[in-house]
Amino acid sequence: MAALSVEGLNKTFRGGLFEKDRQVLRDINFSLAEGKTTGFVGSNGAGKTTTIKCLFDFIHPDSGSIKFFGQSINSDVKTRIGYLPERPYLYEFLTGVEFLKLHWNLCYGSNMKDFSARAEESLRKVDLMEAKDRRLRTYSKGMLQRIGIAQAILTRPDLLILDEPMSGLDPDGRAMVKDILKEEQKRGVTLFFSSHLLQDMEELCSDLVVINKGQILYTGALQAFMSEFHSLEKAFQVQKNREASRG
Ligand SMILES: Nc1ncnc2c1ncn2[C@@H]1O[C@H](COP(=O)(O)OP(=O)(O)OP(=O)(O)O)[C@@H](O)[C@H]1O
Ligand SMILES: [Mg+2]
Repeated sequence: MAALSVEGLNKTFRGGLFEKDRQVLRDINFSLAEGKTTGFVGSNGAGKTTTIKCLFDFIHPDSGSIKFFGQSINSDVKTRIGYLPERPYLYEFLTGVEFLKLHWNLCYGSNMKDFSARAEESLRKVDLMEAKDRRLRTYSKGMLQRIGIAQAILTRPDLLILDEPMSGLDPDGRAMVKDILKEEQKRGVTLFFSSHLLQDMEELCSDLVVINKGQILYTGALQAFMSEFHSLEKAFQVQKNREASRG
């Protein structure tokens, strides 16, 4: 069974008084095989974040079917999913460990069984044990990204969805995030993460979902995409030529 399947997803943002409506997602279809890592790649503004927000109904799509492990999103399924938003809202007066506790309570209510062990496990993985009692406002950008990832992996999710986990980080920061994700892969997680850079995908992903201007351009093996197109730009050009020749 697919960890996630998306069928016929469409989204139009309504314009203001003198603005046109804008359809930003057109008939998005893809699925994620359990245990695999799939990269979600497309240029800025292609529709990656909008797609991901639709998965959780943070943005309500016009139409489409979204199934996690064969089910619509519900509170049981939610505890099997870890999510890092593109711009996480981090309460900066909380300490690292308090931030994790807040997320735990959202998942499991006041049942704190296993919290301490899981929090320590996540903090170790992202190398933040030393900083766990410092307030988030004292964290560097790389540390904030890592505490966001610690939050996403806290409940040992079966499916991990990360929106731009490497964005804005220097090469050391990127390498560190990649190492964390490799550890999660060893645990057998189904991993789905977005980036506008194909390079980010090559080391980690077996599969790709490529989105361009709100439409899916490719789904399938990363290797097959690379041998056919070599780069995102080439794939976009080929798509443009095909559309032009269709008239
Ligand atoms: N709330 C909104 N209202 C109107 N338009 C929006 C809204 N959110 C996103 N858009 C538009 O939808 C399109 C897709 O945006 P989205 O954020 O999904 O792209 P993205 O692929 O995540 O880009 P990036 O790589 O820059 O994060 C863009 O043209 C954006 O301006
Ligand atoms: Mg985005």
